[in-house]
Amino acid sequence: MSDNRESWSARSGFIIAAIGSAVGLGNIWRFPYVAYENGGGAFLVPYLIAIFAAGLPLLYLDYAVGHKFRKAPPTAYKKLMNSEALGWWQVMVTLVIGIYYASVLSWAGSYMFYSIGQQWGTDTQGFFFSTYLQNGEGLALGFVPTLFFGLAIVWAVVMFILYGGVRRGVELANKIFMPLLVVLFTILVIQALRLPGATAGLNAFFTPNWEAMANYKVWLAAFGHIFFSLSVGFGIMLTYASYLKKKTNLTGSGLVVALANSSFEILAGIGVFAALGFMAYSSGSSVQDVVSGGIGLAFIAFPKIISSMGTGGDLFGFLFFASLTVAGITSMVSILQVPIAAFQDKLGWSRKKAVTLIAGSSAVISTLIFSTHSAITFVDIIDYFANNIGIVGGGLLSIILVSWFRRPLMQQLQEHVNQYSSLKLGKGWNFLLTVVTPLSLSIALGLTIKSIIVEGYGDYATQILWIVGGSTVGLFILGAIVFSCLKDSNTGEEN
Ligand code: ALA
Repeated sequence: MSDNRESWSARSGFIIAAIGSAVGLGNIWRFPYVAYENGGGAFLVPYLIAIFAAGLPLLYLDYAVGHKFRKAPPTAYKKLMNSEALGWWQVMVTLVIGIYYASVLSWAGSYMFYSIGQQWGTDTQGFFFSTYLQNGEGLALGFVPTLFFGLAIVWAVVMFILYGGVRRGVELANKIFMPLLVVLFTILVIQALRLPGATAGLNAFFTPNWEAMANYKVWLAAFGHIFFSLSVGFGIMLTYASYLKKKTNLTGSGLVVALANSSFEILAGIGVFAALGFMAYSSGSSVQDVVSGGIGLAFIAFPKIISSMGTGGDLFGFLFFASLTVAGITSMVSILQVPIAAFQDKLGWSRKKAVTLIAGSSAVISTLIFSTHSAITFVDIIDYFANNIGIVGGGLLSIILVSWFRRPLMQQLQEHVNQYSSLKLGKGWNFLLTVVTPLSLSIALGLTIKSIIVEGYGDYATQILWIVGGSTVGLFILGAIVFSCLKDSNTGEEN
């Protein structure tokens, strides 16, 4: 096998990039609220079980496939099971996620600057929806210049990093951004813990509600969260592992990544809830009344907390939004790396060509959709469908195809991983991937689909599904045309 594939400079480069991918928007804005809503301190039990029962086994499967075949998903799955379909599904999921992830990232970047002088004034909700997003009624597709500029900058930065390649782009960016993130975030958490009311916030976050554990939705939340958070099941870890040297301790690396990701998540919970405790304290209400999640937490509650700190709040706000931006950029780079590597592997494209065509067209679609008055509606719906169906469905399929229909492959992958790994995969891994993970994911997926059919999702879900579905199909047709035009000049495929 000719091997001019790009590679990490060392295992540490891979580990830092994998942590950079895992630690993202999901850790900072998603985890604290999901944990709080699903039993507080008690949520840590299903969360830890979800990591060991599904997150780590799937992470190791991703590593095994990527590392054994040294290719991105479509070509790697083709070599594994003679079909590229699953790989292209994962590529499509990353394309869809990349397109909306950029949008939220651009908001975080903008708010980093709005923190200086607390430009949102007293009505943080009004500022976010009316002044910044210029959110329109219904489906409003008019152009919002501020959003456009934010998106253009995010895409330019991400493409610049991607042009640099695996070692001098992705790895270098992570080596700069991840230590920066740790410093920014540690200062932020220390600041938050010093605020009056912080203890009440932490009590609200950690007080266990054991009854919640009898509710299946809590378990679904834990399993649903861990895939997005660990970046598994949608090709990222598979692709990153494909750039590793042959003799690598894969399981040890995976443990470090999972541990770092969870530590960061719990730290985010502490920081966010200490700040919410302060907000409750200064407004004379209880923590329960001020708690909010997701987009509302980051862009409405946090600015409010910052405002109640007086002028010192500027720095606090800057730290929070800078952390969000830095964490998001390294994840965004990893998301885009999947389709880029897929086209490089499949068609022998140079990195420059792949970045220009793939990231470039994603940038155009992302800017067209998210520079409109309906940006937040699109984000909300795409986030829901891409995570709950795209990632969970793709992850489930990869597990079932390998562990149920190609049993001998499981053995081969296990042996491959065990060759140089400190922690050996054995019957436990096999059992989890054959029984526990597929079962829990099937239940999660089934219930999500049922709730979408019965309750629908949001007022404009149907229209948006058409738009998103239409653009995705459009993107694919475009891809297929480009693909068939270039197939003849293909030099990179080696099957
Ligand atoms: N793992 C990334 C996140 O948590 C995608 O945001």
